[in-house]
Amino acid sequence: MRSHGSESFYVLGEGLLGETVGGRQSRLVDAGAEAPPFRFSRMGPSGTDRQLTEAVRKRVADEMTAGGGGASRIPAGYTYLGQFLDHDLTFDKTAVTFGDHVAPSELLLARSPRLDLDSLYGAGPQDAASERFYAADGIHLKMGRTVAVGDDAAMDGFDLPRGAGSTTAQKRRAIIPDPRNDENLAVAQTHLAFVRFHNRVVDTLPASVPESLRFAKAREIVTKHYQWMIRSDYLHRICAAGVVNDVFKNGRKAFEPDPPATAVPTMPIEFAVGAFRLGHSMVRDAYNWNARFDDGSGTLDLLFEFTATSGQLGGSPRLPSNWIADFRRLYDFGEADRPGLVVPADKFNRAMRIDTRLADPLRTIPSFPRNEANLAFRNLTRARMVRLATGQQMATFLKGKGVTLTKLTKAQIRDGNKGATLDGFTQGQREAFLQNTPLWFYVLREAELNRGRLNGVGARIVAETFHRAIEGSKISIFTDPTWRPTLGPDSTTFRMVDLLLFAFQGKKSLLAPLG
Ligand code: HEM
Repeated sequence: MRSHGSESFYVLGEGLLGETVGGRQSRLVDAGAEAPPFRFSRMGPSGTDRQLTEAVRKRVADEMTAGGGGASRIPAGYTYLGQFLDHDLTFDKTAVTFGDHVAPSELLLARSPRLDLDSLYGAGPQDAASERFYAADGIHLKMGRTVAVGDDAAMDGFDLPRGAGSTTAQKRRAIIPDPRNDENLAVAQTHLAFVRFHNRVVDTLPASVPESLRFAKAREIVTKHYQWMIRSDYLHRICAAGVVNDVFKNGRKAFEPDPPATAVPTMPIEFAVGAFRLGHSMVRDAYNWNARFDDGSGTLDLLFEFTATSGQLGGSPRLPSNWIADFRRLYDFGEADRPGLVVPADKFNRAMRIDTRLADPLRTIPSFPRNEANLAFRNLTRARMVRLATGQQMATFLKGKGVTLTKLTKAQIRDGNKGATLDGFTQGQREAFLQNTPLWFYVLREAELNRGRLNGVGARIVAETFHRAIEGSKISIFTDPTWRPTLGPDSTTFRMVDLLLFAFQGKKSLLAPLG
């Protein structure tokens, strides 16, 4: 499986930090080396001399991936919406978004962490490397056709577009800007929902919009609704409401609080290597995927297999029809007063609670050498690699910036609330861990103690990073404060369910074609 993380991090002012994930061959590339276009930054202090030994990281990772833990109230679709957002924000090392012909200055801008859907649009239909993502009219995005299986006929528009190239592997590959969005079937079908959303916006543009402006106009409408949905729906699912409201009302205190208007946003490592990896704890080991793969038979392993980045589409050239998503099982359309689109509670999938436990298939993710395949171990090792600040350091730092928060006590970090235990630690290891808690673990513990919602340090880092990414987008709801959504039920509401209802025309036959 292709990882969706960075292998090395160019941190502003520090240079390129890199290391094998096993942690043995540390290397620090000269800070004067040529800067790659995507720039990470450090929001808080450096965690030099505060990193855990390999033995402790292994032990924590084992504890975290022992399985268990319960479901949350969050509909499971938000897990993969989060992964989709991660891919819009973080570095795509595969360089497919822009071709080599783009000037470095343009690359610098284009690959910055903004919430502008370049993972959907690439560099736009006029760009030579990106035109393949678009239909012949250069305005709609391409969709793909599934493969018939038994009684489930082939259907247009239910798979990602595929079929380019000559080998079987090339033909399977999704024709989308970022192949990470074909890493598991849930994120792939989420990407497809965004393709449909764009296409539907195009189809509903007034005829008066001239041909030459139709793409740009549609992209603007899509991006603004997307940002509104993130701010008013997604962030509230995962973060304490008070923190999100404070950041969006009163502005940022810790991350690039007052940048010059022309400054390019950066990506704080505290978000990419710490806080936003929260999504790993939301992943389930099995889903009631659709009418064909019901009652937990939509396992995570199968969701990997029925993609081209992690699997082989089950041996098919395209997605078999019996794997088409049932969005009613991933999102609660009762929230949008659509009882006809609500499935019985035992068919609905809820994300796992945001806490210090991960589903156990993440103990050995596919295609990594066995000793490097534990996702928790990878996350903790990446943190060591960039000398990430600990949870305690970040709490002190944020307080110093005027953020109101309560530091976790040692007892809270030790005991949590039905999360990973520190039982197997020696006295010395436990003491070191309680003093210098890895940021990712700390943030998950905060959530675990806050009924599965980020709080304190974690909520602040996530809310401020998203705020900056919206502010720094060329199309931004902040630059047009009078803008209001027009595609939801009223002028202040636009949630993910509204986006899906619009994209799939509110039809059960499109949101859940297998019934
Ligand atoms: C089945 C689902 C997922 C799998 C298998 C997965 C796997 C991975 C892997 C292998 C990495 C790279 C680890 C490394 O540093 O070596 C990674 C990075 C990351 N993941 Fe996930 N992930 C999943 C879902 C999510 C979700 C739901 C979120 C957020 C809501 C998320 C956020 C991140 C972030 C922020 C990074 C760092 C990306 C970067 O800096 O480029 N992931 N993930």
